[in-house]
Amino acid sequence: MLTIAIPKGRILEEANELLICSGIIKNSVKESRKLVIESPEEKIRFILAKPLDVPIYVRYGVADVGIVGKDVLLEDNEGLYEVMDLGIGACRLSICSRPGTVCQRGELPRVATKYPKTSLRYFWEKGEQVEIIKLNGSVELAPLLGLSHYIVDIVSTGRTLKENGLVELEVIEEITCRLIVNQATFHLKNTVIEDLIERLEAGVKV
Ligand code: PRP
Repeated sequence: MLTIAIPKGRILEEANELLICSGIIKNSVKESRKLVIESPEEKIRFILAKPLDVPIYVRYGVADVGIVGKDVLLEDNEGLYEVMDLGIGACRLSICSRPGTVCQRGELPRVATKYPKTSLRYFWEKGEQVEIIKLNGSVELAPLLGLSHYIVDIVSTGRTLKENGLVELEVIEEITCRLIVNQATFHLKNTVIEDLIERLEAGVKV
């Protein structure tokens, strides 16, 4: 039995479509309150996890493989093999703010984000000192309420920014979903993993 961790939410539908196109499953993995979904015919079990938790389930070997956005992996890829770009869930990780945002002289720019490590690394590499404020969601609230000057967040359609009067200033990274594999599983179940990758590659090309 192969256990695959998939993120709940927006990626699920595209992941589901890819798994069906690749012939890995016949029936959809629909989001419900059920968090473990078994597909005994295909000898596959799905775990529906929060996106930021997918690498954790895979690292601890509770899941053999996982589907996860590159945004999450930039933050946490320890002990994982990133084996394939699945091409789904395309979006970007960007710096955004209210239009015309400026910091007062001597003021440290505050950046709110769900991605503290990636943000810190990005500003550090640019030689800019900032204060990072870690939030867990609805990050766009921060500049609206004066909690931060900037945010580093996912922009997909741009609708959330637009509806909250924010603008995208700079793209940090183009994001797509990746297939990650537990390092021990990669060696122990190599044939199964290689077969999965082959099928997904065929599915991605469709
Ligand atoms: C993500 C992201 C933005 C939004 C961008 O949030 O953090 O808020 O989607 O998408 P858009 O450009 O298509 O509007 P998500 O819905 O995952 O929830 P969150 O705010 O709780 O992080």
